[in-house]
Amino acid sequence: MVLIQRRLPPGPESQQRGWAGSAEWAGAGGRRRDWPAAGAEGRLLEGRLRSHGCGRPRPGRALAEATAASSMAVSNIRYGAGVTKEVGMDLQNMGAKNVCLMTDKNLSQLPPVQMVMDSLVKNGINFKVYNNVRVEPTDRSFMEAIEFVKKRAFDAYVAVGGGSTMDTCKAANLYASSPHSDFLDYVNAPIGKGKPVSVPLKPLIAVPTTSGTGSETTGVAIFDYEPLKVKTGIASRAIKPTLGLIDPLHTLHMPDRVVANSGFDVLCHALESYTALPYHMRSPCPSNPITRPAYQGSNPISDIWAVHALRIVAKYLKRAVRNPDDLEARSNMHLASAFAGIGFGNAGVHLCHGMSYPISGLVKTYKAKDYNVDHPLVPHGLSVVLTSPAVFTFTAQMSPERHLETAEILGADTRTARIPDAGPILADTLRKFLFDLDVDDGLAAIGYSKADIPALVKGTLPQERVTKLAPRPQSEEDLSALFEASMKLY
Ligand SMILES: NC(=O)c1ccc[n+]([C@@H]2O[C@H](COP(=O)([O-])OP(=O)(O)OC[C@H]3O[C@@H](n4cnc5c(N)ncnc54)[C@H](O)[C@@H]3O)[C@@H](O)[C@H]2O)c1
Ligand SMILES: [Zn+2]
Repeated sequence: MVLIQRRLPPGPESQQRGWAGSAEWAGAGGRRRDWPAAGAEGRLLEGRLRSHGCGRPRPGRALAEATAASSMAVSNIRYGAGVTKEVGMDLQNMGAKNVCLMTDKNLSQLPPVQMVMDSLVKNGINFKVYNNVRVEPTDRSFMEAIEFVKKRAFDAYVAVGGGSTMDTCKAANLYASSPHSDFLDYVNAPIGKGKPVSVPLKPLIAVPTTSGTGSETTGVAIFDYEPLKVKTGIASRAIKPTLGLIDPLHTLHMPDRVVANSGFDVLCHALESYTALPYHMRSPCPSNPITRPAYQGSNPISDIWAVHALRIVAKYLKRAVRNPDDLEARSNMHLASAFAGIGFGNAGVHLCHGMSYPISGLVKTYKAKDYNVDHPLVPHGLSVVLTSPAVFTFTAQMSPERHLETAEILGADTRTARIPDAGPILADTLRKFLFDLDVDDGLAAIGYSKADIPALVKGTLPQERVTKLAPRPQSEEDLSALFEASMKLY
């Protein structure tokens, strides 16, 4: 256990939240050990500390119940150009006899799917293709996939595509393994019941073809819940793919806007997980590790992945967008997607993602360039990045050094920067980054106006699983102001 230094500068807000001046975890290598075990000393301390974060005692609660810890859950992953050829052997090694290959219509005509099918045929694997995945899936499209797989007793799954395909496949595997569950049973509360998954699932091999979601590493499946027109999801370590095959050759087929938008998803996964509420301040603190959520708050393990992913984004995203043949840049972005996935899959994301769900769910007529679909669509990565300048201006006061550090990684000269300017500096750096990559000029450019703000706020409120991980609490007025500030970027 290491000593976690307090990030919050002393000030009225930190005092109000009871955070200033107290000691965090200490252990081998830590400098102080003023966090006693339960007992007389613990109770004494309990009386003195009044904060409610995870790992901090509430009055009347035994310290032993409140363990602030961070852990890392991740799929097995394998990386390399051409590694997809091994998928048939992997399935053979798993003893699979009846495999579902899931993808979307567009990809079913493209080389990544062909490469997977060749390997399955070569290794004598019996399989059926489901290519009806909806790009940006909905509850209805999830249910169609679930119906398809329920009838066919598959013993393994291969998902070939972006987040839309991987997430649909995770949901299909889950509900086929739990056939009597209602759809909302496993959906995140408060929209669904958020039940823990206790049934065993079949093996799922994920072959990502975009460089964005990191879904090959996470236990998360996101969809648009049409009755409320907001995105939500299923989050459980149990639905993590068994294996992610990260093959950079697939990225060479991606059109440039798909590279850009999925790259913005990596950018926001990294920035949000690095700036999320620290894990020991999240509450409630689980009394049993099985109830610790996948999204634990920023922590020393996820930080490593987030920062490394951000460095790759800074170095390679522009190159990857501008030159389809730049295998070095596209390969690195493919890895960054998995790295940021490992980071946010354990730490969580916060406001850009929480606010993005109504931005994509309430889409009117916007059609994204390069997305080969027949419905209006705000791609996920675009929906998260458009609010990023406003969000990080808002959150910077809670961990200004981290905001400055990320601005520097993204190219800002911070040598003479003042700590109170951390937010605006990161926001300006992001604006420049987005401008250079031809991103639409804010929410207004994708069809929203001031009149939509109440609906956008209303759609953000149920996203508390992520919004409560924001380092700074936010009121409805704050959310309105963040949407308003995101109407125009440049
Ligand atoms: N599960 C998670 O952890 C997680 C994280 C972030 C986002 N998501 C979700 O993932 C979805 C977005 O996924 P995405 O951004 O990866 O894109 P996507 O799966 O929606 O695909 C976007 C488009 O790109 C095309 N495409 C994909 N790969 C291609 C390739 N190699 N060559 C040519 N075309 C290709 C697809 O056919 C599709 O038209 C959203 O629903 C989002 O909410 C999930
Ligand atoms: Zn995302």
